[in-house]
Amino acid sequence: MSGPARKAAVTGYPVAQSRSPLVHGYWLKKHGLEGEYGKIEVSPETAEDFFANFSASGLVGANVTVPHKEVAAAACDQLDDAATTMGAANTLWLDEAGRLCGANTDGIGFLGNLDQLVPGWDALPGTAVVLGAGGAARAIVWALLSRKFTKVHIVNRTFKKAKKIADEFGSRTIAHNWDKLRTLLGETDLLVNTTSLGMTGKSPLEIDLSALPQETLVTDIVYVPLETDLLKQAGERGNQTVDGLGMLLHQAVPGFEKWFGVRPEVDDELRALILKDLGVEP
Ligand code: ATR
Repeated sequence: MSGPARKAAVTGYPVAQSRSPLVHGYWLKKHGLEGEYGKIEVSPETAEDFFANFSASGLVGANVTVPHKEVAAAACDQLDDAATTMGAANTLWLDEAGRLCGANTDGIGFLGNLDQLVPGWDALPGTAVVLGAGGAARAIVWALLSRKFTKVHIVNRTFKKAKKIADEFGSRTIAHNWDKLRTLLGETDLLVNTTSLGMTGKSPLEIDLSALPQETLVTDIVYVPLETDLLKQAGERGNQTVDGLGMLLHQAVPGFEKWFGVRPEVDDELRALILKDLGVEP
C-alpha cells in the first residue's frame, strides 16, 4: 500500500479509556508501517452525521466503541454476518468504491483467542454455559454457534434478557435463571463469564464449581484482574482456564488487516504492554 499515511481511529463517547491506540500503535511499529491510529470522541448528538459522512473524516476505517456500535452499523452500506445478526458494528472500513463496510469482531476475537491458546478446544460437538446476556454475551453466543456447539445455555439474573437472545438465535440456545446454574455446570464443556461480576470494583461472581467436570474449559471476559476469582477457583480444581485479555486483543486483528494490509499477531510483548498500561499483574 502506498500514498499518504493511512489513518484509522477509535470512535466512541468517551474514548479516553480506550487501549486500541496502544494495540494498533504496537502493530504499526512492529511492522514498520507509516499508518496512524488515533482517538476521536464523537458525541451522541453528532454520531449519526459522523458515520453517515464517514468518508469525509479522512480515515480509512475505524473502531467503534460504546455507545455508537448500533448507529455505526445502521450507517453502513454493507455488514458482515456477525454485525448483521447483532445490529452493531465495532470495525468499519471504506472499500475501493468508497462504500462504508462494517463488521462485528467481538465474537471473532473470542474465537481467535481460544484458537491460539487452546488449539482443538472446539474439535468435538459440545455444550456451553454463558453467564450474562449483554452485548458481549450476544457476540459470544454468535461465535459459539458458528462452531460445533450443539447447545448454548444462557444464564442471566434478568431472565427476559437471556430469553431474548435465545429466541433470536434459535433452538440451539436456551435461556435460564441463575438457579439452574448448578445443574447446567454438571454437563458443560465450556463455561464463559460475560458479566462484569468479578471485575475490580464490581461485585464478586459467586459461583459453586463443585459440579463442573474437570475437562471443562473456563474463560472470563473480565481482564482486570487478569486472574479473576472464577479463573482462580477453576484452576485450583484442575480446569484449564483462559483469561479475558486475549479477546480484547484478538478483536482488533481484522481491523488492522483491513486498514494497513498486514495480518498482525497477538504476541506476549503486546499482552505485556497492555497489562502494564492497565496496571494489572501478569
Ligand atoms: P455488556 O454489553 O458489556 O456485555 P451489559 O449489557 O451491562 O454489558 O451486561 C452486563 C451483564 O452482567 C448482564 O448480563 C447483567 O445482568 P442483567 O441482565 O440481569 O442486568 C450482568 N450483571 C451485572 N451486574 C450483575 C449482578 N450484580 N448480578 C448478576 N448479574 C449482573
